[in-house]
Amino acid sequence: MPPRKIIIDTDPGQDDAVAILLALASPEDVTVLGVTAVAGNVPLPLTQKNALIVCELANMPDTKVYAGCDAPLARKLVTAEHVHGKTGLDGPQMDAPTMQLQAEHAVDYIIDTLREHEAGTVTLCPLGPLTNIAKAFQKAPDIVEKVQEIVLMGGAYFEVGNITPAAEFNIYVDPEAAKIVFDAGVPLVVMPLDVTHQALTTRARVDAFRALGTKVGDMVAAWTDFFERFDKEKYGSEGAPLHDPCVIAYLIDPTLFSGRQVNVEIETRSELTLGMTVADWWRVTDRKPNAMFMGTLNADGFFALLTERLARL
Ligand code: BDR
Ligand code: CA
Repeated sequence: MPPRKIIIDTDPGQDDAVAILLALASPEDVTVLGVTAVAGNVPLPLTQKNALIVCELANMPDTKVYAGCDAPLARKLVTAEHVHGKTGLDGPQMDAPTMQLQAEHAVDYIIDTLREHEAGTVTLCPLGPLTNIAKAFQKAPDIVEKVQEIVLMGGAYFEVGNITPAAEFNIYVDPEAAKIVFDAGVPLVVMPLDVTHQALTTRARVDAFRALGTKVGDMVAAWTDFFERFDKEKYGSEGAPLHDPCVIAYLIDPTLFSGRQVNVEIETRSELTLGMTVADWWRVTDRKPNAMFMGTLNADGFFALLTERLARL
């Protein structure tokens, strides 16, 4: 199979950064057409800068990076510095990027790219709030049917929520955008917390990154060391979940994951459960399935793949 053409829509974030590195290290599986930044973990000026930093770290300065929306469709931005630090990529010391952003707005880039490519040949990989994708669908409804698939990190069923008791961060930040995307009728694969909480950075796994003896290995180990402190304290877990790389790992080896094709609705009205992904996991309604909602991960296989690919950079 030829590599899948993808656009990574992201709010880096250490786990986003690892996802971008995994994609850039895997040209036989994915061709990264572009990276689009969105406000999320930290405000847009930082997420766009972090996207550039990561592409430079991968030694791929020709990667096209676009700045997108700086606020959710209908709400004030909520950020997650308490997890990712002030810069979004806290942990190791990093130089300012020398790479430049592309001039085009991310939303227009997504629209133009889908229009230029044959229908069913471009996959969208959202790793943050869904603002850019929803805006593109609103602005250019003709592109919706051209999307091959959306594979995203967001939501939860069994794990319920991380930013509120009921909601996962990416969906909570822009629930209106999430609703547009989940209702669009595009083939959708969802990596919820149920899966990503199985991708834990145990000491042995972080040591394996460090043992690569490369700048990338050291950076990834230092990032995980930094954001681990939050999850260890919160969940009492052995490490932190590497949420966003699950999206890219799925494109490389879908057999690492299993899930169910179910209906998922987004709560946009209740203050108490805003941003909840109401997944009909047990199929108790007759609502039409609209997403492949993942439930399990082969975590050892996932980390073996990730470590092997990062070693290439
Ligand atoms: C998601 O929120 C962000 O903090 C992470 O980067 C990930 O995309 C997990 O809830
Ligand atoms: Ca993210």
